[in-house]
Amino acid sequence: MAGEAYVKYSKSLTFRRVLPERDARLLIRWGRDLYKQSLGREDAFYRDYGRYGGSFPIWIASCAAANPSFAKFLVEDGREIGLAVLGLDETNAEVGRVHHFYVATTHRGQGFGGLLDDYSRDVLADAGARRARLNVAAGNARAIRFYEAQGWEETQRRGGLIFMETKL
Ligand SMILES: CC(C)(COP(=O)(O)OP(=O)(O)OC[C@H]1O[C@@H](n2cnc3c(N)ncnc32)[C@H](O)[C@@H]1OP(=O)(O)O)[C@@H](O)C(=O)NCCC(=O)NCCS
Repeated sequence: MAGEAYVKYSKSLTFRRVLPERDARLLIRWGRDLYKQSLGREDAFYRDYGRYGGSFPIWIASCAAANPSFAKFLVEDGREIGLAVLGLDETNAEVGRVHHFYVATTHRGQGFGGLLDDYSRDVLADAGARRARLNVAAGNARAIRFYEAQGWEETQRRGGLIFMETKL
């Protein structure tokens, strides 16, 4: 049609539960990239999650065991394009934690991170949290801009990390 002012988004978007054993390879690949984007190198991923990164899916399994909604893939037309890993503060259940947001390289800069953020706010609020916290590497300028655009505010800087918080 001449003068059409918009393009219809016709793909299906769903969230699906992470199955840490079945999804281990993808989780480790994304975990490595997450560290690379955050710190500029991958070796810290192996330091934190073992020689082959195998502790990363195990740790995500523990988040999912606390609440299945705390570890979810964003899926477009049957293909995983994003990941949210969440939790509640161990000492204060009114504080939600965003452990990780990850959008596949092919899908960044298209607003999918905002969907992960909306999803996470809803899940954490349903779980009883009244505010949420995260930390982001001070050098990860793109992620910091992203969080600020979503309404997160810096509360402190320490040890190369920026701590951010938002009301739910
Ligand atoms: C941070 C992240 C979750 C944001 O999700 P997103 O879906 O890319 O978010 P947006 O679409 O809102 O884009 C965020 C910014 O990246 C920019 N961008 C554009 N194209 C991009 C591309 N190809 N790749 C990455 N970022 C791009 C956007 O323009 C926007 O920048 P701006 O604020 O200057 O406009 C995602 O980029 C990501 O997974 N990064 C790697 C992992 C990471 O750093 N996670 C956070 C660790 S705490």
